[in-house]
Amino acid sequence: MPSSRPSLASLASFLAVIGFACLAPAAFAAPLSSPTPNSILSVVPASATVAPAPEDANGILWTETSDVMPEPQRGSLGTNILGPQNVPLDLQNADLLAPPSTDAGTVGNVKWPFSLSPNRLQTGGWARQQNVNVMPIATEMAGVDMRLEAGAIRELHWHKTAEWAFILNGSVQITVINPNGQNYLATLNPSDIWYFPAGVPHSIQATADNPAGSEFLLVFDSGDFSEDSTFLLTDWLAHVPKEVLAKNFQTDISAFDEIPGKELYIFPSDPPADDAVAVPSPQGTVPASEAFSFEFSKVPRTPLAGGSVRIVDSTTFPISTTIAAAEVIVDPGAMRELHWHPSQDEWSYYIEGAGRMTVFASSGQARTFNYGAGDVGYVPASFGHYIENTGTTPLRFLEIFKSDRFQDISLQQWLALTPPALVKAHLNLDDETIAHFNKTKNTVIGPSKA
Ligand SMILES: *[C@@H]1O[C@H](CO)[C@@H](O)[C@H](O)[C@H]1NC(C)=O
Ligand SMILES: *[C@@H]1O[C@H](CO)[C@@H](O)[C@H](O)[C@H]1NC(C)=O
Repeated sequence: MPSSRPSLASLASFLAVIGFACLAPAAFAAPLSSPTPNSILSVVPASATVAPAPEDANGILWTETSDVMPEPQRGSLGTNILGPQNVPLDLQNADLLAPPSTDAGTVGNVKWPFSLSPNRLQTGGWARQQNVNVMPIATEMAGVDMRLEAGAIRELHWHKTAEWAFILNGSVQITVINPNGQNYLATLNPSDIWYFPAGVPHSIQATADNPAGSEFLLVFDSGDFSEDSTFLLTDWLAHVPKEVLAKNFQTDISAFDEIPGKELYIFPSDPPADDAVAVPSPQGTVPASEAFSFEFSKVPRTPLAGGSVRIVDSTTFPISTTIAAAEVIVDPGAMRELHWHPSQDEWSYYIEGAGRMTVFASSGQARTFNYGAGDVGYVPASFGHYIENTGTTPLRFLEIFKSDRFQDISLQQWLALTPPALVKAHLNLDDETIAHFNKTKNTVIGPSKA
């Protein structure tokens, strides 16, 4: 790193103007413009009791694809590493190694790459999970990334928590019955979702539509869910006296000679028929208003200034009473705006692109994390946050809530709908800046106009 580094302020304005993704820290040059004009010198409000916040822009210093040696150094702070260094991890986590100077205090870890989860390999597929054991702050939801080869089956089972799922690749057939004995079978495609209430028995089987099979994301409405403690058909029957099985099913005991001696969990099989339908039930099929799946892939994305969003919650998918979700796309240079969710924790999953999130935990505490494809994020209820696209391609992620409704509060909309004099008294902004605040929630905002 050069010893003649520019001042924080010039670094700030430089980053604000030309971005960062392609920059080596050593490439910082003279400022191209002054920082956004504000009132630090021109307005000294009578109410001022604290010094202004520093002018540092605190942009990200590098990304995973930058051609730099990542160092724990930002402006005049920090210095290089002399000991061993895990360079690939440091390239992925610029804001942990060289945090913005706005970060402070202790905030629990809110990043978990599925790459760090031990995987459970089975014949026909695999499953890896994130729960409170690996990310203790994530108490309300847990996630599983599951892969099935074409025809492979995640065996008939149930569990104590509800399960919401999003198909990442390929297609699957699901089967479910509800407590009334009504039957349900559906074939689902990428970006479609399902929801199984707690305790409702189901199966998942990859179809042959994609010769490679399918991969999907499962989200559970409890942080201590474990994929290793589900109630499996084979596990149960292997632990019931055969005399009882014969009595229960009114058969000869020899009918059960070949049942598996222990659980199957995931196992290979022939793919289901294209025209498979639910076994006719005397109780009928599940009514449409209680359907266990939803063609989220067919919901149009709402275009936004810097990307798009589509939302699914119990207003459109009524059975999904404990999980609501949004699929957000943020264009390069754009940002999921500063906001928070009033009463529900957020579990997020990054599908593609590169992003940066700072969580504000109150009491002067904030911490910034970097995310990429396959990473899980978490934001406790009410924690303020934003998600900036720090890459050169669209950033696509899911925001998932343990709730029957998607809800958020936009910082900008709140301030735009607050008496301007009140806002001015807090922030020392000029009238023109305040008048410019948008009264309409934007969700994703376009690149900076600086
Ligand atoms: C599914 O995976 C295949 C093989 O990696 C890939 O070519 C395809 O684009 C993926 N489809 C989706 C919807 O991501
Ligand atoms: C406020 O945001 C809405 C929604 O993106 C947009 O249509 C409108 O032009 C914006 N208004 C102003 C004054 O920027």
